[in-house]
Amino acid sequence: MRILITGATSGIGKQLALDYHAEGHEIWVAGRNEKALAELAEKGIHTGRVDLSNREESLKWFASLDAIDLAILNAGTCEYIDLPEFDSALVSRVMRNNVESMAISIEGLLPLLRKGIRPHLVGVGSPSSYVPMPRAEAYGASKAAIAYMIDTLRISLYREKIDVSLVSPGFVKTPLTDLNDFPMPFIITVAEASAFIRKGIARRRLEIHFPKKFTLILKLLAWLPRSLWCRLAQRMIK
Ligand SMILES: NC(=O)c1ccc[n+]([C@@H]2O[C@H](COP(=O)([O-])OP(=O)(O)OC[C@H]3O[C@@H](n4cnc5c(N)ncnc54)[C@H](OP(=O)(O)O)[C@@H]3O)[C@@H](O)[C@H]2O)c1
Repeated sequence: MRILITGATSGIGKQLALDYHAEGHEIWVAGRNEKALAELAEKGIHTGRVDLSNREESLKWFASLDAIDLAILNAGTCEYIDLPEFDSALVSRVMRNNVESMAISIEGLLPLLRKGIRPHLVGVGSPSSYVPMPRAEAYGASKAAIAYMIDTLRISLYREKIDVSLVSPGFVKTPLTDLNDFPMPFIITVAEASAFIRKGIARRRLEIHFPKKFTLILKLLAWLPRSLWCRLAQRMIK
């Protein structure tokens, strides 16, 4: 397969790139970290140094590529709101890096996927979009927007026979979660996350969520009356 992965200079995306490359696929990755990109290039992975939140720069890079069979839109960031200050600049940053970057990637990738074999578009969201999470006003909102965008594209792209999947990982140990200062239940390694994602993609699952013992609990909590969930979450903060 010809596979493109965004945000593959570290964490989940990097592991996916290495694992798919080891399986013999041709891989393209995008990111900003030059040193990490050079290391991947040494292994025979095609790289593009692009800031995916920059529309012009990104579309130029996508336009330089040919057919893609599988696109994994994984690039993203996480920042938390710490009241009493509600920092709208933080919200803008998270929305730009997570939602706008994904929209730009989709714009650049759709023409390449249309030329691909059994094309598959995969977006990385988060279970934080299932229920409102403390301090996740920006991150959770960005992932809820991504889930909506991906779920809608699945409907819109059906006639073109482009499959669309949403990935919702629980906590995975990466440079992103290394910054967290709170307990992360059922945290898994990037190798485990990559195995879950590749298995779900091979089966063309609509939503690839893992580990189930974490995501199923959150899915159940999302069924609670919102007033009850709010009371539980307020206790979590205390
Ligand atoms: N780890 C978790 O527990 C967890 C849970 C749920 C969802 N997720 C999601 O999974 C994805 C990967 O997260 P991770 O934990 O692997 O984080 P990570 O190690 O920090 O990796 C994030 C990647 O995104 C890239 N990136 C971010 N903004 C970019 C931009 N504007 N342009 C180009 N590349 C950009 C980074 O590359 P450069 O720095 O080189 O630009 C990096 O390669 C994210 O979307 C995250 O929200 C993670």
